[in-house]
Amino acid sequence: NLPARGKVKWKAPSNIALVKYWGKRANQIPANPSISFTLDACATTTSVEYTKKEDISQFSFDLFFEGKPKEDFKPKILTFFERIEEYLPFLKKYHFIIETSNSFPHSSGIASSASGMAALALCLVDIEKSIDKGITDTFFLKKASFLARLGSGSACRSVKGDLVQWGEHKGIAESSNLYGVDYPFRVNPVFKNFHDSILLVHKGQKQVSSTVGHNLMHDHPYAERRFAQAHDNLDKLKKVFESGDLEEFVNIVESEALTLHAMMMTSMPYFVLMKPDTLQIINKIWNFREETNVPICFTLDAGANVHVLYPESVKEKVTQFIQDELVAHCENGHYICDRIGSGAKKL
Ligand code: PMV
Repeated sequence: NLPARGKVKWKAPSNIALVKYWGKRANQIPANPSISFTLDACATTTSVEYTKKEDISQFSFDLFFEGKPKEDFKPKILTFFERIEEYLPFLKKYHFIIETSNSFPHSSGIASSASGMAALALCLVDIEKSIDKGITDTFFLKKASFLARLGSGSACRSVKGDLVQWGEHKGIAESSNLYGVDYPFRVNPVFKNFHDSILLVHKGQKQVSSTVGHNLMHDHPYAERRFAQAHDNLDKLKKVFESGDLEEFVNIVESEALTLHAMMMTSMPYFVLMKPDTLQIINKIWNFREETNVPICFTLDAGANVHVLYPESVKEKVTQFIQDELVAHCENGHYICDRIGSGAKKL
């Protein structure tokens, strides 16, 4: 009694980690817990059209990215299907037409794997829901996050919002290595409407894929200490989220960003993903903060772009600062104004 055909569509946001996930075990189990702000503007929209087929011996799908067939994404999707088939037994029974597009430019150096895998996972669980009407909303979101994790670890944090934790941690009973959960404690209103201006320093392809990066943590001389530090930083952030102590927030978030890059610089082989402009931006942020006491800070992903985080109350001052001082360090002057968002949406 499978439906013969249908179509679902979801929009899933990107996310920016405050405590970083870097290092994993088998089956995309994180070596340490992480926490992220869900973003709002940076998102992937994906639709999946499904039609029942006769031959159930293999997966079958067409893939379109921004309206055009996209052959080079196919192996990644195929690997994803292979990994999740045991949780979605209907996958080989349908032919899928997957159409996906990003709200941010493709070559912006912003990773689309988190939003992309989250959007696709949500579509697939939505198809399952049309087969199994008994699926509850809570289970739905948990399963989407679980499957998104198997596509790209950090994608499991892109299903919900606005603050999502992933990875077991003694301070949070409901936390899991298998999916992201809404941060369960009180969060001071100062973090409401927090901004993330993403400075596009280098739009090229990443020098090191995150898969390679995570694997380099296996024989890393500082790995165990780093994983322990992530737990400590989550404990510290809990107090910060409660009190709204932005000074301490800045310390933790910037330290996490630099530690992520320090891990890459001290692995074998080693990488430097920051560019000269990345460092100049960081220095300018430090000077600005010292001169003005405006509580802004930076964070980084596995790349050269800089995320500038700040509360709503200083938006005007920071916007001016970015325009006057930081835009000059962005490739073609490009940056994206984003803010904390509320998670994925069905369209
Ligand atoms: O989800 P992945 O495997 O692409 O890893 C992403 C890791 C970082 O973005 C560097 C940190 C994080 O927690 O998002």
